[in-house]
Amino acid sequence: MTRLSFTLNNRDVTVEADPFAPLSETLRLSLGLTGTKSGCDAGDCGACTVSLDGAQVCACLIASGQVEGRAIRTIESDDPLTKRLQAAFLAHGAAQCGICTPGMIMAAADLLKRELRPTRQNVEDALGGVLCRCTGYTKIIEAVLAAAHGITPAAVAKAGAAVGARIARADGAAKVAGTDLFGADSAPADALWMRVLRSPHASASFELGDLEGFRVANGLAAILTAKDVPGENSFGIFPTTKDQPVFADGFVRFRGEAVLGLVGERNAVERLDFAAVPITWTVKPALIGVSSALAEGAPAIHEAIADNVLTRGFLEKGDVEAGHAAGSVTIERQFQTAFVEHAYIEPEAGYAMRLGDRIEVVASTQAPYMDLEDVARVLGIRQDQVRIRPTACGGGFGGKLDVSVQPLLAVAAWTLNRPVRMVYSRMESMASTTKRHPASITAKASADASGAITAFEMMGDFNTGAYASWGPTVANRVPVHATGPYRTPHVRNRTRAVFTNETPSGAFRGFGVPQAAIAQESLYDDLAEALGIDRWEFRRRNAIGKGDETATGQVLTASAGLPDCLDALKPDWDAALLRVAEHNQAHVRRKRGVGIACMWYGCGNTSMSNPSTMRVSLKPDGSLTFFNGAVDIGQGSTTVLLQICADALGLPTAAFGMVVGDTDLTADAGKTSASRQTFVSGKAAFLAGQDLRAKILAQANAGPAATLALSGSVLTISDGEAS
Ligand code: FES
Repeated sequence: MTRLSFTLNNRDVTVEADPFAPLSETLRLSLGLTGTKSGCDAGDCGACTVSLDGAQVCACLIASGQVEGRAIRTIESDDPLTKRLQAAFLAHGAAQCGICTPGMIMAAADLLKRELRPTRQNVEDALGGVLCRCTGYTKIIEAVLAAAHGITPAAVAKAGAAVGARIARADGAAKVAGTDLFGADSAPADALWMRVLRSPHASASFELGDLEGFRVANGLAAILTAKDVPGENSFGIFPTTKDQPVFADGFVRFRGEAVLGLVGERNAVERLDFAAVPITWTVKPALIGVSSALAEGAPAIHEAIADNVLTRGFLEKGDVEAGHAAGSVTIERQFQTAFVEHAYIEPEAGYAMRLGDRIEVVASTQAPYMDLEDVARVLGIRQDQVRIRPTACGGGFGGKLDVSVQPLLAVAAWTLNRPVRMVYSRMESMASTTKRHPASITAKASADASGAITAFEMMGDFNTGAYASWGPTVANRVPVHATGPYRTPHVRNRTRAVFTNETPSGAFRGFGVPQAAIAQESLYDDLAEALGIDRWEFRRRNAIGKGDETATGQVLTASAGLPDCLDALKPDWDAALLRVAEHNQAHVRRKRGVGIACMWYGCGNTSMSNPSTMRVSLKPDGSLTFFNGAVDIGQGSTTVLLQICADALGLPTAAFGMVVGDTDLTADAGKTSASRQTFVSGKAAFLAGQDLRAKILAQANAGPAATLALSGSVLTISDGEAS
């Protein structure tokens, strides 16, 4: 450690720090400035971007010793330009999950200090070192240009209504200020740190050596093994598929599986040499890919499932052979898709602490009540002894629907009776958390001479990896959606979720449907070409609409907007075809193409109930509080649900206080997945607002058209002339 002196946000500071530690670490851990966010710690994501002597740098790539005598500015700066950018980001909705936002603002400030009137290209270049996984950049670029050119976004006028009005994110101010706390941003001061030793092998048994000797020699508080799990050493999504151990017990099923939890003071844990941990491996042949797992004689990855098939999905409608026979053209093809990583900018992180006979877990999650169930299970305690407090979530996209740090932290904090924190490294996050299921699909489709689809069938094997996770959901959802949003009279769709010795596959935007859509849409392009029909036209002729029946027999009676969408797209499609044709005629070597595809996707849980509970209260002192258990992972549910509740009650959003996502304080709103929160929890927010309104109006004997106004502790109800 050494004393470092530098200027930080225009103030002279001196700090004791490791000169070789990254500047991001010194800012965050030694100086408490967690507005500089933690992402990859490798200079790739730019979440930790700060200004060093006026130029943007990744703080994770700067050794702390290098800043001696220099000037650093962070998102916590009260520099007027930073403030202007923060206001513009908030006004333009440029922060979604917000994990990249401080870095974006610092990069933008670097540009605007050099270039008062930047072009769009200038902005794109200046922000090139900061990745955003949520926004698509459009709003960010607009915000920077607006800050530079003094533009404020036009208000969307819709007097008296919150829904549809342009309002700032209800949680946006903290995101642009950098004060929103993500998983790695907070923990009790006396928290120990944990690192996890993970399997270097895809399939192996192991024996542990003298762990106690290693613990003492390295000054650790504990080395946790499977034997230290006080309850069930298993977790998982469904009650029948709790198959993943917190710590592997004698053997591992994938490379990256948790084996030991090493807990101690940060310095002791950080300097550990994992290669020196006394553990002896016996490596076994690994089943990589579904074909090896399904091969005759393949060993069972889970003892109880001899054929390695976790689950099967099946859907049949009509007579698919007759449908193919009725077609003028039949096309059959095979498709392979790969693992896909969610690549949220925020790695998994959090802390846990024991409070008497209760445990609190504070971590980044998409599903607090599911976390609660698994934490209770692994600790062997009642669910009411567990409190989950979700942090801000720096992106999830399905990857934070499964627990990650939660059971590990819970076991450590419970057994040691000390707060324990951990932050996954980027590599650890990628190696150990769920991915999109790789798929092997054979699909066959037929259409008649008019272009009408007559039959569709597919068989898909989905690689669910070493543990079940959301494999059953994928296997069940794909058959329902695999025809795409098209009228299809004869259907037969079959799926299998197959265990392999690979990283567990889980939830990822669409639960398998995008993989199936690749196959189906490719086939429909081929059918259109074979029939000499334009690809837009083929889709328009078959587009499912109001009154049509899906593959499951559901008749769409209300919203079925695909024909309208395609009609709206037609001028652009024609123009794109023309542009591409002209380009290709003029260029010999570089050719262009244009594609079209449609996809549908059901909002909400698959093959299970889909409840959500929202609460709103008004106290005698006039405090109006919306209790919202839905985790906002950047998509905006905190704001949207508030807007819905506000309109249902008849008071402005500004009148509300909010409690968001704490299992002790908010009811179960279900998980934030499958695009369900606006639709399902939105309805719950609407009903909660209406319910409170009805109670208020009943007490005042007012009619349904009465208006409410809240000022301090005075609620005024106006009904016609009376109030
Ligand atoms: Fe940029 Fe989420 S808002 S990563």
